Amino acid sequence: MKRIVIVTALLLGIAPLLLADEGMWLPSLIRGRIADMHAKGFKLTAEDIYSVNQASLKDAVLLFGGGCTGEVVSPEGLVLTNHHCGYYQIARHSSVEHDYLKDGFWAMARGEELPCPGLTVSFLERMEDVTAAVLQGVAGDAPAAWRDSVVLARSGDLVKAACARGAGLTASVEPLYYGNQYFLFVYKVYRDIRLVGAPPSSIGKFGGDTDNWMWPRHTGDFSIFRIYADASNEPADYSVTNVPYVPRRFFKISTAGVREGDFTFIYGNPGSTQEYITGEAVRWIGEVADPERIALRDLRLGIIKSYMARSQELRIRYSSRAATVANAWKKWQGESLGIRRMKTVAAKKAYEVRFAKWASASSYEGVVERIDSLLRLQEPYDFARFYYQEAVSQIELASFAASQVKILSEDPERAEASARSFFGQYSEEMDREMFLALMDRFNECVPEEFKPAYFKEQMDRYGSVAAWADAFFAESVFADPEQAVALKKRDLKTLREDPAFRFASAFSSWYRKEVLPEYQRLSGEIKLLQRDYMRGQMMMGGDRDFYPDANLTLRVAYGHVEGYSPSDGVYYTPVSTLKGVIEKDNPDIFDYDIPQSLRDLYAKSLQEDPAGVGMGTVPVCFLATNHTTGGNSGSPVINADGDLIGINFDRVWEGTMSDIVYDPDYCRNISLDIRYLLFVVRELGHADHLLNEITIVN
Ligand code: ARG
Ligand code: ASP
Repeated sequence: MKRIVIVTALLLGIAPLLLADEGMWLPSLIRGRIADMHAKGFKLTAEDIYSVNQASLKDAVLLFGGGCTGEVVSPEGLVLTNHHCGYYQIARHSSVEHDYLKDGFWAMARGEELPCPGLTVSFLERMEDVTAAVLQGVAGDAPAAWRDSVVLARSGDLVKAACARGAGLTASVEPLYYGNQYFLFVYKVYRDIRLVGAPPSSIGKFGGDTDNWMWPRHTGDFSIFRIYADASNEPADYSVTNVPYVPRRFFKISTAGVREGDFTFIYGNPGSTQEYITGEAVRWIGEVADPERIALRDLRLGIIKSYMARSQELRIRYSSRAATVANAWKKWQGESLGIRRMKTVAAKKAYEVRFAKWASASSYEGVVERIDSLLRLQEPYDFARFYYQEAVSQIELASFAASQVKILSEDPERAEASARSFFGQYSEEMDREMFLALMDRFNECVPEEFKPAYFKEQMDRYGSVAAWADAFFAESVFADPEQAVALKKRDLKTLREDPAFRFASAFSSWYRKEVLPEYQRLSGEIKLLQRDYMRGQMMMGGDRDFYPDANLTLRVAYGHVEGYSPSDGVYYTPVSTLKGVIEKDNPDIFDYDIPQSLRDLYAKSLQEDPAGVGMGTVPVCFLATNHTTGGNSGSPVINADGDLIGINFDRVWEGTMSDIVYDPDYCRNISLDIRYLLFVVRELGHADHLLNEITIVN
């Protein structure tokens, strides 16, 4: 319908109606959006974006590892992604002598590129709508279990056939729109990937958790890898005889710069969204689940931070844990706030009234009510579920006890080493504080009927969480490094009575038997109804465009460079520069302590510039309206000509409800300006040879 409107408008010479920048579109169906992309400035064709017959932009985009995106930028398989996506690989190659996290790493010759066993990159060969094949002969009212088994079997056949067509192929059939459609995705997976370059963390993580999810942002969040292949350019295990991969397509890099209003296109693998759930589901997330999980993480972060403040050593020890806890914590805050600001619950409920009218006397009648009544049954199980994950599972001594008992029974030789490594980072004092805070909150907030019998027994026995904690830490042999390191297989019988082990095993069996099964059973039923509701919403239509929820498959999100107003009286301009890095620079604050070499370089540039600006205008990051989520990290940011202008790495926290509802006023993705990458590689890495393999256009 929209297309007809646009085409008619074009024919009549009227400016076409622009659609919203919301959406994560399937590349193989991008023809349906290309008119809108053109109206917004894009100059290439749908075939340039995705084609199975010729090289297209999709051939330069890859799934990096299991949850990030990356892009090929040279004819010799050079790959860009984020620093936080390459972090694990940079860390594993780091040692006291070669601290690549701290100092950065630059391979000055091919032979210095570092193999990363286990790391893969996957190129999408093709995607194909297989709904007809998968659902052939399956009636709309077929029993769900039977339908599932048919879908599973046929998907298996399709996957097998697809993989048989070449070496190094993997495939999967993924449901879209809750299983109203099925798509086959075929990937070619390369597995000899080498680390080529990374800036020091003081650039790649500049701003740390303080600036995470925030604007203004000045993080140089990139790292560089290379794909190696065998002599015929096919995937191969690591070998010295492997050669750089020759891509079907690579991105050229544009240094022309970004201005507010410029067209931007993110090509990547968004992980998960839920744009079509009911108002009740949104209420639960925004008003209960998010606030509750935030509160649990507040407790944990408060404790971790108080330890980090004690010494530099403790700060380093706990910083990655704090970063992990803080990441979702901040995202949930934006999500919950955004849902309230947008009044999404009320908006969804109003929509559901219209839907009910439309659905009246059809097979869709009452579907929202049925979903909601199941949701209300499921909510207490969900509550218990995240209390298990966010509170119970965070008691380290209990997790250690459980894993030691497992190791002792399966592979006792490893037990001593694993105990030593645990005590290398364990603080009983901190764990005890966690126990007190988290179990107190468990006691207070988890409804009586959802507390496990074990928990009640302990509370009856000790009278308070504090007394229970005293006994727990005093009586467990796992809390005593000497004893714990010396434990042997023969001790297993007594160890199963140990308070730390009992804590872990009692809670885990409660979770596995009393929480999860019912939670999952209800999830299954809700998903089935949600499939109907999804189909109904699409049939009803209206002014909404239906893109499938993200599921870590390749998507196109297009938008434009734009700032935003986070609050009254404030407008954030969309481009940040090196001047801002220097403004934040502070040797006394870890997150803002830039390399001395950058400080010197900058000072020198000021001296040499009569205007006193020097390198102050070097661009660092920019904001745009692209609809992205976790998994889009490392995604290429492409301009109207199809050239690379940036690398996506984050969103602003005020817009993180975009996983549920997109707000054009607040949803902004944050990208590294590609020119900052070039600057860092040249000026700090002195790795000009890497720049020689890329193609720069203006
Ligand atoms: N917020 C970004 C994302 O969700 C970046 C996370 C890594 N950075 C950090 N400071 N924790 O992945
Ligand atoms: N930082 C996220 C990622 O790593 C991206 C986002 O959530 O916007 O994928």
